[in-house]
Amino acid sequence: MLKTTLLQATAAAGKIMKDSFNTSFTISNKEGLNNLVTEVDHASEKAIIDIVLKAFPDHFILSEESGEIVTTSPYKWIIDPIDGTINYANGIPLCCVSIAVEHEGKIILGAVYNPFLDELFFAEKGKGATLNGKPIKVSAKTEVDHACLVTGFPYTYLDEPNGPIAVFEKLIRKGVPVRRLGSAAIDLCWVAAGRFDGFYEHKLNAWDSAAGFLMVEEAGGMVTDFKGDHYSPYQPHIIATNGKIHAGLLDYVNGRRG
Ligand code: IPD
Ligand code: CA
Ligand code: CA
Repeated sequence: MLKTTLLQATAAAGKIMKDSFNTSFTISNKEGLNNLVTEVDHASEKAIIDIVLKAFPDHFILSEESGEIVTTSPYKWIIDPIDGTINYANGIPLCCVSIAVEHEGKIILGAVYNPFLDELFFAEKGKGATLNGKPIKVSAKTEVDHACLVTGFPYTYLDEPNGPIAVFEKLIRKGVPVRRLGSAAIDLCWVAAGRFDGFYEHKLNAWDSAAGFLMVEEAGGMVTDFKGDHYSPYQPHIIATNGKIHAGLLDYVNGRRG
């Protein structure tokens, strides 16, 4: 029932995204200079929450655009109605809906759907990760200096030691390819599928990473914070890799390498 509802909500949001793509939807700005939200983010979010609450009226909801519906339920739905809104608003078809289900503080289910590539990533704790129903696993690359990496940058500049630009610069100076797709949930799923060997980002919210984090773990990868401790989506730092390059990427992110 949880899984059915999760997949229904993901499909509904994906359809809304696809139907409204490149139409004249309204775009407004949140805090910062270019932190956008579109009418479609709100429509996607409403469709998801309606489906979830119809099936589970007492569940806790944490959703990017409308915040929290706080209940005492041990189940929490963590929702990003469009991850990659800047891409979406610019007609770039690299964006997705991302939904995770947490039970008693642990992420147990995750679904990420990019309707433009028709790619549905799904993970269930202890049962593996799939792409359109087929099992996926992380890459086998062992050397961070030969890895294909991906990252993202926050909407507002982070002026701190080993910040996003410093780490990016070290990797680029070394000649390591680092991509920037604009959707953290897709970045994580593509690590899970072995397309990237690793991903790091300095400032994410729970809705960006909760589903993708489970995807990487269930595909055999490793996800930690910048200290190398087990990942929690309720703090900003993430490193997600195939496991084999993890220590090397941790060294770059902490300024010990490069
Ligand atoms: C953003 C994307 C982007 C990441 C940002 C996120 P949004 O989410 O995941 O890749 O770099 O930090 O905020 O705003 O498109 O849902
Ligand atoms: Ca997001
Ligand atoms: Ca979003």
